[in-house]
Amino acid sequence: MVVAQDFQSIDNQFFQTPDAFFSAYQGLALTYDDLTLATLYSEILPRDTQLDTALAEGLELNIPIISSDMDTVTGSRMAIAMALNGGLGLIHYNMPEREQLSEVIRVKNHVHGLIQDPVKVSPEQLIGDVLNMIEKKNFAFSTFPVVDASGKLLGLLPSHAVKQRYAKRKVAEALTARSQVHTIGKKELSSNPIARADKFFTDHPLIHKLLVVDEQDRLHGLFTMSDVERIIQERNAQFKPARDAQFRLICGAAVSATRNAFGNLDRDRILNHVGALVERGVDVVAVSTAHGHTKGVGDTVRLVREAHPKLPIIAGNVASAAGVAFLADCGANAVKIGQGPGSICTTRMVAGVGIPQMTALYVASRAAQKKRVAILADGGVTKSGDIVKALTLADAVICGGLFAGCPEAPGHTMEIGGKLYKQYRGMGSMAAMKAGSAARYGHPDGVTQKLAPEGVEALKELTPSVDRILAQLIGGIQSGMGYLGAANLAQLRERARFIRVSPAGMREAAPHDVVEVTTG
Ligand code: XMP
Repeated sequence: MVVAQDFQSIDNQFFQTPDAFFSAYQGLALTYDDLTLATLYSEILPRDTQLDTALAEGLELNIPIISSDMDTVTGSRMAIAMALNGGLGLIHYNMPEREQLSEVIRVKNHVHGLIQDPVKVSPEQLIGDVLNMIEKKNFAFSTFPVVDASGKLLGLLPSHAVKQRYAKRKVAEALTARSQVHTIGKKELSSNPIARADKFFTDHPLIHKLLVVDEQDRLHGLFTMSDVERIIQERNAQFKPARDAQFRLICGAAVSATRNAFGNLDRDRILNHVGALVERGVDVVAVSTAHGHTKGVGDTVRLVREAHPKLPIIAGNVASAAGVAFLADCGANAVKIGQGPGSICTTRMVAGVGIPQMTALYVASRAAQKKRVAILADGGVTKSGDIVKALTLADAVICGGLFAGCPEAPGHTMEIGGKLYKQYRGMGSMAAMKAGSAARYGHPDGVTQKLAPEGVEALKELTPSVDRILAQLIGGIQSGMGYLGAANLAQLRERARFIRVSPAGMREAAPHDVVEVTTG
């Protein structure tokens, strides 16, 4: 035992706790590749590690990964994929507010036990109108309940009737009559509605939709067989989807500290925007700006906090302890840390400011502990090892570039020289600011002349789906935790021991002196 302690003290001289390590490098700003984590005795198998993290009361993720609120990263498709994997997507704000609200609705309505507000049609509508609606809203389904003005169920419009050849006919002429539509009373839903719906689909071969009605035969909701099957499968997955108390996927949305024509904070607009998001079921709003330690951002957070005492709020970005304390005092639950580390950022070059990420996270974590807020490592993450290092100080990471090449990211795939790419641009790039994000960089709404862009417009090679990317990242995080003997993220934070890496050490860390045949 004495011998073991002796050896332990040798390790302790070299591999330091975050406090000792960052104190020793007080005059030097470090980022992910500047340091490495020492491994420790472990009885933990990677696959047994838990990755859940709480960002606020009522905002728990099953994996500590969030997709950035950027217009080339997170729309509803990305947010759905993130939440299904246990993480969170923050829907960007470079779109009209009503469009952002629809995006939130799409996430909240995705695969629940019961779709509470299914898309309905009326008997007087033409099939042609239904076809237009499907095209406009990009629906992937074409069977619709038919209801009258009071919501009473009249029948079901089957997908085989929704065809161009019937465009001029009314829905009333093509519907399956009420008497032939299978329904279940709202009251019949037991405490386990999924099991009830599952039994129904087993008992009724070839029926894929089950409508739920109230005592007056008004439509109350809808189960689909594919949703029910998916939910039953999910129960066996290690990292469950991130859901709210009503079993809906969780979803975040970005809001900006909007100013009016006189340069004052547009309080009404901000409150209306957040109020509408809350009504749609948003789980968290992110007050997203490049400089969060400012009066405007502080006032915005305070305004939202006063109006919505229980709503989880993310705010940022900052890179200092004082910045974290300020936003915490204004009412934020989680603070984004990162100024200029992003793969598309030029803030450090343009404005000469910003702190490399590991030092920024350490400094921020000191204030976060005292103020009891979470911190999010935002930007600069290029590999799972960076996430492991970030999570020794932060509660979750926010990634843009890692997801921008996924099919789920907004925007088209383009082919250049035989390779497939997707656009990825900074929210401070000229194009993104023209599309609406100028306020994030402290410029008035609608003013795009004389702006100094702080981000670039770029391309990312098309990558596999979010599921595949997250599987790789999660595997890497779990592996790192296994090396440190950490069963959960709290233990990872306790057990982290750092040492600085030299440039030669950094070269040693990547494949070297070989001809790579496959990567990854
Ligand atoms: P990654 O490295 O994941 O970074 O691609 C994404 C994060 O970068 C931030 N961001 C910007 N920062 N200029 C900046 O300085 C920009 O134009 C810009 N756009 C996004 C943001 O925090 C994001 O999550």
